[in-house]
Amino acid sequence: MTDALDVYLYDRQIAIITRQGENLQLRYLPDYVAEEHPVPISVTLPVVSGVSPSDTTKRFLENLLPDRPDVKTRWAREAKLTSDSAFDLLSVYGADVAGALEFYPAGTTPRTEAKLTPVSDQAIAERIRQIRADDSDWLEHHPLEEGFSLGGAQGKFALARRNGQWFEPTGQHPSTHIFKPGVHTLPGSDVSEHVTLQVARRLGLNVATTEIGIFKDEHVLIVERFDRLPVGDGYIRIHQEDLAQATGTSFVNKYERDSGPNYHDIFEVFDRDLTPSAAKQAKQRFAECLVFSWIIGHNDGHSKNYSLTHTPDASYLSPFYDLNTALPFELPHIVRAKNYQAYDGVKLAFSVDGAATLGEFGPEAIHVLEGDAELDPGHLTVFAFHIGTNLQTTLNEVIGELPESLQELSAVKLFPYAAFAQTLRVRDRLAPA
Ligand SMILES: Nc1ncnc2c1ncn2[C@@H]1O[C@H](COP(=O)(O)OP(=O)(O)O)[C@@H](O)[C@H]1O
Ligand SMILES: [Mg+2]
Repeated sequence: MTDALDVYLYDRQIAIITRQGENLQLRYLPDYVAEEHPVPISVTLPVVSGVSPSDTTKRFLENLLPDRPDVKTRWAREAKLTSDSAFDLLSVYGADVAGALEFYPAGTTPRTEAKLTPVSDQAIAERIRQIRADDSDWLEHHPLEEGFSLGGAQGKFALARRNGQWFEPTGQHPSTHIFKPGVHTLPGSDVSEHVTLQVARRLGLNVATTEIGIFKDEHVLIVERFDRLPVGDGYIRIHQEDLAQATGTSFVNKYERDSGPNYHDIFEVFDRDLTPSAAKQAKQRFAECLVFSWIIGHNDGHSKNYSLTHTPDASYLSPFYDLNTALPFELPHIVRAKNYQAYDGVKLAFSVDGAATLGEFGPEAIHVLEGDAELDPGHLTVFAFHIGTNLQTTLNEVIGELPESLQELSAVKLFPYAAFAQTLRVRDRLAPA
């Protein structure tokens, strides 16, 4: 059993975490503390000499792992660990996590073997099928040497792409893309997530680049990692932390309604930990994303679905990811009726001025949000009209570029009906009296 982990960031060791019973002691290395502007592991774990608080360290580490206990237990079992604690899991699955951190059992040097093992379409199709059959099984056929972990609830895996060929990123090479077959109970949600994200992008939001991959007869959402940057003929890791981590929140409380952070807490982090101009931009982008989420019916944008990027030069709100409409998954006859009131009860991940559902959100909430985000009066209304006015055409464009078989999926076919209803909502709720 390992009782100490070496922590690497931007390819050098910066800290060590030791375990004493239930206690975790995180210590930055003295030469790192002495640097002029060292990048912290998290804004909640500033680079100082001495020991960082155990609870804060634990919450941060837990947020690097899958949310579901059954997935974690399975990973612990497969690696023959004696517990599924974050510390134990990261001793094995900590080499390729969100951001630029790497965790290794103390004294073991990071792997220098720059090996990339090609993966066939057949093998990728099998991994997708396996996750569709059992979404706690993220690792089937998956060599432990990859050391991969990511947060979230959905089954997923990550690969590296070079010149159109997929590889298992063993050794120094990080993964470059995340594969998400979709939510078990929502068929086609991988495709609707791609469509939602690409509509958002075409309407001006800064979001992750995605595509739909087809491997044999399986479709899958492929998300390009923005925490990986091509340099020379390889990739480097770029550091990031999600907003649960940045607000010191456990994954258990990731939703505001489950005692998690609200948008005021998040704006506080922006104001405290970003430069004034980055904070201003982050607040504007975040507020616009809340308005977009209201229109598109994205109900899962909790604190782990936003991140801060930390480069040695600057910190900023990362591109958006895990953005998906919930509306086409309502009963088909309801969606086809194009009545937005049918969605009134759909919950928003962040409430604004007491408005916590699609039906409650409206001009009053927009006005309050504008003030809190320090935007000019009217900014978010103009933004909402821009989305409402262009949604239908943009959505049809994105859907029209999908392979025909995917256009036939119920989630895709129903999406325009839901979007149409929501554009009526924008008109009715925001039009001047
Ligand atoms: N494009 C991306 N670049 C970098 N990190 C990402 C990207 N997309 C997701 N992540 C990271 O992976 C985690 C899980 O991905 P996500 O899409 O949120 O999955 P889930 O639907 O299971 O919540 C995120 O919380 C984030 O830390
Ligand atoms: Mg997520």
